[in-house]
Amino acid sequence: MFNIFKKDKINENQNTIDFEKPIPQHIAIIMDGNGRWAQKRMMPRVAGHKEGMNNVKRITKEANRLGVKVLTLYAFSTENWKRPTDEVNFLMKLPVDFFDVFVPELIEENVRVEVMGYIDDLPEHTRTAVINAKEQTKHNTGMVLNFALNYGGRAEILTAVNQLLTEQRNGQLTEEPIEDDKFSDYLMTGILEKELRDPDLLIRTSGEERISNFLLWQLAYSELYFTDLSWPDFTAQTLAEAISDYQARNRRFGGLKETKKGVN
Ligand code: IPE
Ligand code: IPE
Ligand code: MG
Repeated sequence: MFNIFKKDKINENQNTIDFEKPIPQHIAIIMDGNGRWAQKRMMPRVAGHKEGMNNVKRITKEANRLGVKVLTLYAFSTENWKRPTDEVNFLMKLPVDFFDVFVPELIEENVRVEVMGYIDDLPEHTRTAVINAKEQTKHNTGMVLNFALNYGGRAEILTAVNQLLTEQRNGQLTEEPIEDDKFSDYLMTGILEKELRDPDLLIRTSGEERISNFLLWQLAYSELYFTDLSWPDFTAQTLAEAISDYQARNRRFGGLKETKKGVN
């Protein structure tokens, strides 16, 4: 009897955040599985995207409450244009609905919106919605809610390389070799504080275990966490499980003992 009780206790602790230990400062999420979530319920794929959007609100509030500094959410990739036009149109309308309702709450929660991706290629109404949300929350000093929208990791790296080449050609840059630190200024995460640019923890929902062109440079030493749950089913409890799992990892950054990010 006593042993059973003890076992339960241990399992419970494994799924709980230890507030004595560091919380991942930057969490990135590949919010996958919306379409399958809806199809399993005999609903159209877009119903899953709508539910996914509602979940963004819940998880944003929870991450902020836990003291996460940056939450980067993969909302639309540079490859997602390949989907049927109706689905793409629906996805392009979501930020409009999302920010319309949610910006006042984000202001109340002191959350700052950032967007990384090829914003100029978005439809006018989508672009306006994200620009307004950024503008309306720019003085907030709490968590950064960073949307990857029309974002692709390879495109991001190439854009950075091309910008460096242009600056070198124009004489704005010396011909010195480009170092890691300098290069990261040219990436889309260059808008974030230096020590917060690389995610500590990457979560992907839906059971797929791949990166799908997300943050290729920045994920070099991130801890990866995969769950079979679809994004609409991902809860505050699942987030706690992911963080708890993260806290049990031993981050060595190529060394032999646990180290803080960036310290040798
Ligand atoms: C993630 O869900 C949202 C986007 C990629 C925009 P999916 O739409 O990829 O859902 P599945 O993976 O097909 O179930
Ligand atoms: C990744 O999901 C992109 C987003 C979640 C926005 P996808 O559903 O597009 O990725 P693949 O096609 O399964 O690799
Ligand atoms: Mg998918």
